[in-house]
Amino acid sequence: MKILNVAGARPNFMKLAPLVREMQAHSGISALLVHTGQHYDINMAGQFFRDLQLPAPYASLAVGSGSHAVQTAEVMKRLEPVLEEARPDLVLVVGDVNSTLAAALTAVKLQIPVAHVEAGLRSRDRTMPEEINRLLTDAIADYLFVTEESGRDNLLREGVDARRIHFVGNVMIDALEVFRPLWTASTIHHRLGLSAREYGVVTLHRPTNVDDTRTLQDLIEALLEVSGEIPLVFPVHPRTLNRLSSLNGTAARLKPDPQTPTPLGLRCVEPLGYPDFMALVAGARLVLTDSGGLQEETTALGVPCLTLRENTERPVTVTHGTNRIIGTSSRRVVDEAFRVLHSPCPAPPRPPLWDGHAAERIVAILADIRSETHSR
Ligand code: UD1
Repeated sequence: MKILNVAGARPNFMKLAPLVREMQAHSGISALLVHTGQHYDINMAGQFFRDLQLPAPYASLAVGSGSHAVQTAEVMKRLEPVLEEARPDLVLVVGDVNSTLAAALTAVKLQIPVAHVEAGLRSRDRTMPEEINRLLTDAIADYLFVTEESGRDNLLREGVDARRIHFVGNVMIDALEVFRPLWTASTIHHRLGLSAREYGVVTLHRPTNVDDTRTLQDLIEALLEVSGEIPLVFPVHPRTLNRLSSLNGTAARLKPDPQTPTPLGLRCVEPLGYPDFMALVAGARLVLTDSGGLQEETTALGVPCLTLRENTERPVTVTHGTNRIIGTSSRRVVDEAFRVLHSPCPAPPRPPLWDGHAAERIVAILADIRSETHSR
């Protein structure tokens, strides 16, 4: 069985790493990887291939940045001849980025079956580009692998045949476990002069939070206030970096130099590789974020997470995890952060099936489907 796996943007790489490993260990499966190049900087893509031991891509599409339409169309145009040449038995896509939808659409039009890993998540906020990508990918994929029960419920409500849905757990958490030796060996705390549980971590990159100057300014003011109580480390996404420079006077109050250990303040650093970032998150007293994946990783690690959004497509991180959805009002951000710092809660057990074995389940299901189709 030839499976062509598609990676495009940073959060795809850690999800694919355990899956590709599992496929490589299976004698009946040949695994190919295509990198669309949606993310292309060394610290957004290249270092993840190296650290997560992803195989050299069978094809690199180098689509780069662009509007949603341009990026989606470029992936489709460039992937089609690759699929025609490779003729895989299955295309596997992960997550909800533009590359996910573009690859799924290209494959189904060539009548190649598609598997979607991390299916069924819904924020019910159609202003999020990812929500549109999730809805459309799930509507056309043949095999839907869900990380939490809400994913199955959403798909059934949308009329999906139950036989297409498989609740398998979370490959993001597989990556956390597979690469635990790598991230526990990181020297990031030493390099930044930090001690475990004596700092917080911030990430911000959602267009709704960073593209509007007023919203970003308010969030940064709130984070500066919190950082008067506990140092905050802020690995800055390139989208956010572009916007921070437009903030009046605020940029000068951010501490850009990671070499200077300062007890307090909001310290901007470059985007980090997977081992350094996971080590930083695992040792944090709290995380403030608008990321999807980080809501899951903090839940698995038992680290309190405040999500600076109005909704989440990952409700299990709230009902069974350490996540709170707090919106983006600066007063609420400060109040909730201080509440976590002064009245911490014990971490609950992990959500069902977040046990580090999701990739095994997925590959076993795919191999079974293949042998059933062949024996017919
Ligand atoms: C994309 C995903 C988002 C995911 C995020 C993770 C979509 C619609 N969005 O958002 O779901 O959470 O990745 O990071 O697919 N840039 C660089 N170097 C890079 C990549 C991007 O400088 O290697 C800059 C460019 O200015 C680009 C901007 O970042 O225009 C945004 O990149 P893009 O891939 O369009 O969206 P993200 O915000 O990264």
